[in-house]
Amino acid sequence: MWISTSNQLLLLCFVLIFGTATATDHIVGANKGWNPGINYTLWANNHTFYVGDLISFRYQKTQYYVFEVNQTGYDNCTTEGALGNWSSGKDFILLNETKRYYFICGNGQCFNGMKVSVLVQALPSPTASPVANHTSNSSDAASIVLPRGVVGLRALIVALASIWFGSGWI
Ligand SMILES: *[C@@H]1O[C@H](CO)[C@@H](O)[C@H](O)[C@H]1NC(C)=O
Ligand SMILES: *[C@@H]1O[C@H](CO)[C@@H](O)[C@H](O)[C@H]1NC(C)=O
Ligand SMILES: *[C@@H]1O[C@H](CO)[C@@H](O)[C@H](O)[C@H]1NC(C)=O
Ligand SMILES: *[C@@H]1O[C@H](CO)[C@@H](O)[C@H](O)[C@H]1NC(C)=O
Ligand SMILES: *[C@@H]1O[C@H](CO)[C@@H](O)[C@H](O)[C@H]1NC(C)=O
Ligand SMILES: *[C@@H]1O[C@H](CO)[C@@H](O)[C@H](O)[C@H]1NC(C)=O
Ligand SMILES: *[C@@H]1O[C@H](CO)[C@@H](O)[C@H](O)[C@H]1NC(C)=O
Ligand SMILES: *[C@@H]1O[C@H](CO)[C@@H](O)[C@H](O)[C@H]1NC(C)=O
Repeated sequence: MWISTSNQLLLLCFVLIFGTATATDHIVGANKGWNPGINYTLWANNHTFYVGDLISFRYQKTQYYVFEVNQTGYDNCTTEGALGNWSSGKDFILLNETKRYYFICGNGQCFNGMKVSVLVQALPSPTASPVANHTSNSSDAASIVLPRGVVGLRALIVALASIWFGSGWI
């Protein structure tokens, strides 16, 4: 994909203005990346994942892989019925649902620790304040719409950011 320089600048500005305070890219294993012999539970416990965030896997292409599986696949290190698979060596995955995600490596390395599960939470909502109880007030209705719009915007920003930064994509 080729984008003109001015469009890239616009995109970068857009990401900087709207993106910095919201979406996070969680690099699995930080500077150790996606490799055998690392306890990714410790890594995951040290992060908070919100809807619209990215999780990214960095690894030696053709040597390791990434599969999204369900809990059975995670517990048993099996990729049957995988929900998704990635192999670029630098994979950005959008966490767009509030659920527990399970990722494992496909070629037996799951048994060497290459498995990670992350719990994705809903965004902290401004309407969650204890004062704002459910009343049929029009201002309440407006403030309920906003967070949904914000989630959509986050998803868009994250998608754009992954195109911008994700050299794994063609
Ligand atoms: C990884 O760390 C967690 C939390 O300390 C621990 O419960 C788990 O047994 C460890 N896993 C391995 C494979 O060592
Ligand atoms: C947890 O995250 C902090 C800040 O990113 C980092 O300094 C610390 O080393 C991390 N701890 C573990 C166990 O990964
Ligand atoms: C995991 O695999 C074992 C056999 O290898 C099987 O007995 C067990 O039921 C499996 N667990 C799940 C949750 O499917
Ligand atoms: C996970 O997927 C496998 C294969 O599709 C299925 O047999 C299993 O029941 C699923 N487990 C859960 C916990 O959904
Ligand atoms: C990987 O995902 C694609 C669809 O995105 C699917 O066609 C393919 O069979 C999957 N490969 C494996 C090994 O699961
Ligand atoms: C999240 O993304 C996946 C894959 O792109 C898609 O199938 C799913 O419908 C999306 N879920 C939501 C809630 O947008
Ligand atoms: C707000 O609503 C919750 C239930 O939705 C109720 O438990 C709580 O007492 C209410 N607070 C006020 C200040 O009305
Ligand atoms: C409804 O909103 C107006 C301002 O828009 C406010 O003055 C009023 O107190 C609100 N009523 C309730 C029941 O929250």
